[in-house]
Amino acid sequence: MQERLQELQTEAIQKVDQAAGLKELNDIRVAYLGKKGPITEVLRGMGKLSAEERPVIGALANEVREAISARIEAKQSELEEAAVQEKLAGESIDVTLPGRPVNVGSHHPLTKIIEEIEDLFIGMGYEIAEGPEVEQDYYNFEALNLPKGHPARDMQDSFYITEEILLRTHTSPVQARTMKKHQGKGPIKIICPGKVYRRDNDDATHSHQFMQIEGLVVGENIRMSDLKGTLDVFAKKMFGQDREIRLRPSFFPFTEPSVEMDISCKMCGGHGCSVCKQTGWIEILGAGMVHPNVLEMAGYDSKKYTGFAFGMGPERIAMLKYGVDDIRHFYTNDVRFLKQFAIEE
Ligand code: PHE
Repeated sequence: MQERLQELQTEAIQKVDQAAGLKELNDIRVAYLGKKGPITEVLRGMGKLSAEERPVIGALANEVREAISARIEAKQSELEEAAVQEKLAGESIDVTLPGRPVNVGSHHPLTKIIEEIEDLFIGMGYEIAEGPEVEQDYYNFEALNLPKGHPARDMQDSFYITEEILLRTHTSPVQARTMKKHQGKGPIKIICPGKVYRRDNDDATHSHQFMQIEGLVVGENIRMSDLKGTLDVFAKKMFGQDREIRLRPSFFPFTEPSVEMDISCKMCGGHGCSVCKQTGWIEILGAGMVHPNVLEMAGYDSKKYTGFAFGMGPERIAMLKYGVDDIRHFYTNDVRFLKQFAIEE
């Protein structure tokens, strides 16, 4: 019996040492140390032994059990450690590999122009105001001194939704709304960026939807010279300190007098070229002193209050600033076009 036990120990240990995985190791444990295993069987047969032999065999059986068990445990931690090492090796990352390029977006050129203009005017104490794109005929036209049937309505071909509601044709209704909100009390200093709509056939310089930025200042003693000074600061900051401005008489029903502002052409330095159509000047915006009728309609005393307003198109400014030759580039969202504006950010 002693021999049998020793044999079992040698055999079991050999198998444990050769075990290739945790599953196999567990099978060995069950086979040798389990209830149906050979050692248990030996212990069961101890009743047949003599009183002297019994404790000797019992002690030996326990020793064999412990030896096998210890060997299994050692092998188990060895296998577990190997498994961890293998997993780590499989998961290792090569930090020297170059990363995958990330596509970073950029601001749309019109957004950039609008933000630049906003910042410039905010720096001069203006606030930003916004109004609805679906507008009442009253604010888009009537409150701006353009009663129904006024021939100047033809200057802005409109998309009507009902007789009284249309897509705004300019940002000037925001002036009328803001003045009305102030209930006849100044001062007001706002700029209003936004989308506008006109019934135009789209081509390189026209679009049925485009953007405008409106400016309005109302207060006591606001003069034409304030308008000119403001526009001069704007033109120089936007297009360069060497730019000259000139104001040409014009007509808008909501301003009197009305002007159009040109800047000297950068391309030719004012000598005349194809960009400025040989005139040396480029038209940038419309402006004027707020018409007394407009002030009165909004509840202002036009003897006490005066004001100036101006309106410009960010597309036109972006086209001049970035040398874009077709307004449609701004709306077709060709990434090859848009990407070019990422560089400056
Ligand atoms: N609203 C005018 C236009 O769209 C521009 C403008 C605004 C002119 C304010 C004068 C004063 O043509």
